[in-house]
Amino acid sequence: GRKWTEIQHLNVELEGKTVLIRGQAQAIRAVGKNMAFLVLRHKGFTVQCVVTATPELVSRQMVKFSASLSRESVVDVEGIISVPGIEITGATQQVEVQVRKFFCINKAVPNLPISIEDASRSDKEIEDAKKEGVLLVGVNRDTRLNYRVLDMRTSANQGIFRVQCQVENIFREFLLSQGFVGIHTPKLIAGSSEGGSAVFKLDYKGQPACLAQSPQLHKQMAISGNFERVFEIGPVFRAEDSYTHRHLCEFTGLDVEMEIKEHYFEVMDIVDQLFVAMFDSLNQKCQKELEAIGKQYPFTPLKYLRKTLRLTFDEGVQMLKEAGIQVDPFGDLNTEAEKKLGQLVLEKYDTEFYILHRYPQAVRPFYTMPSYDDSRYSNSFDVFIRGEEIISGAQRIHDPEVLTARAVECGIDVKTISTYIDSFRYGSFPHGGFGVGLERVVMLFCGLNNIRLTSLFPRDPTRLVP
Ligand code: 4AD
Repeated sequence: GRKWTEIQHLNVELEGKTVLIRGQAQAIRAVGKNMAFLVLRHKGFTVQCVVTATPELVSRQMVKFSASLSRESVVDVEGIISVPGIEITGATQQVEVQVRKFFCINKAVPNLPISIEDASRSDKEIEDAKKEGVLLVGVNRDTRLNYRVLDMRTSANQGIFRVQCQVENIFREFLLSQGFVGIHTPKLIAGSSEGGSAVFKLDYKGQPACLAQSPQLHKQMAISGNFERVFEIGPVFRAEDSYTHRHLCEFTGLDVEMEIKEHYFEVMDIVDQLFVAMFDSLNQKCQKELEAIGKQYPFTPLKYLRKTLRLTFDEGVQMLKEAGIQVDPFGDLNTEAEKKLGQLVLEKYDTEFYILHRYPQAVRPFYTMPSYDDSRYSNSFDVFIRGEEIISGAQRIHDPEVLTARAVECGIDVKTISTYIDSFRYGSFPHGGFGVGLERVVMLFCGLNNIRLTSLFPRDPTRLVP
């Protein structure tokens, strides 16, 4: 085959060389009859191609043909790399391709609902363009999500989903290095796994069933099955009623469950080491991606400590109180209080990533282990990035009688989880774990303001397509 060059690898060192590239035509501009400019894009990187009519090399017809192409058509170009004396603003690569050969491989329909150029603009650029009366095509979020295949092509989106892949990758690599085993649990289950009403019900061949709200029950059973330490990366379904910037009806759960030898702090140690390794790795390996994201959605790099800060819930309540915010010491924190506490923690400890633990028992799921010294509290924790929750975790009750009592107290139909409860009758290990929302981690690490930006095909209360 012929030798192809990736657009992202075009640089000044190739000056004078002939290259063969493929991309989508992001912008097309004719200058008179003898010249056309095309910006070709591949995987979020763009290069300007110049088609100039030259006797014997490039015909006027070829200039006309290239200038008449519809945007987003797939094009192969053979040409010579040149370095213009001035900065190129409309493309990521700082070289041009002087076109010699030009083939359209696949034509896009005209008048697409999204212009990738416009969809790549920052909020500020959109505002400025609107002030100048420029007509923008496809900058509205719903339009973008309706035509996600087009929207995915922006440099920021190319970055976001590569960062997401890296988060998943580090999660897996780190846990494997610590002796964890990757498992898969069923997503079709008989009862709700977290309690509450946010569950999708369905008919399982005549039997009532649910889509799993988390791998919670089965990952715990795998610990009774003596795998000692397990993780799972899989879909999680929540029939959320509210339309918010951080809730989806389907998201990707990164779940961990492990034997506890002495203390639930062992679980928080894993959170600490895992996330410090993850943030380090993202900053090292995803520089280009983070830069592309930041260009459209400006953000400051996440501040985190080498050893993750741990505060008790009580300490958090106290900090809020000192700042003039009263919260119920045995209730839950609402999102506003969480956000505020995040700010206070940043001011006091210079970190945007921390663990809050020893939550009141009353606000935690039925399977949560109460604190040994005071049963009004629990051996549980939440983890926050920039004042928003990304993880909840805890030690679990491994005594079947205590567990049954708690389930009944929480209004759960124990018949639907009897095999789960019974699994602790055959010799059960003290254990604990946590669940991470993948889309939230990416959203908050990158300082984005909506979870739909970090889900490739988001599912929310009003969206089931594409
Ligand atoms: O806090 P949650 O509901 O906890 C559990 O599912 C437990 N089984 C975890 C455990 O092991 N104890 O969900 C865990 C995480 C949240 O911190 C959040 O990041 C994410 O999942 N999450 C959502 N992400 C997007 N959309 C939603 N509707 C989410 N609900 C939870």
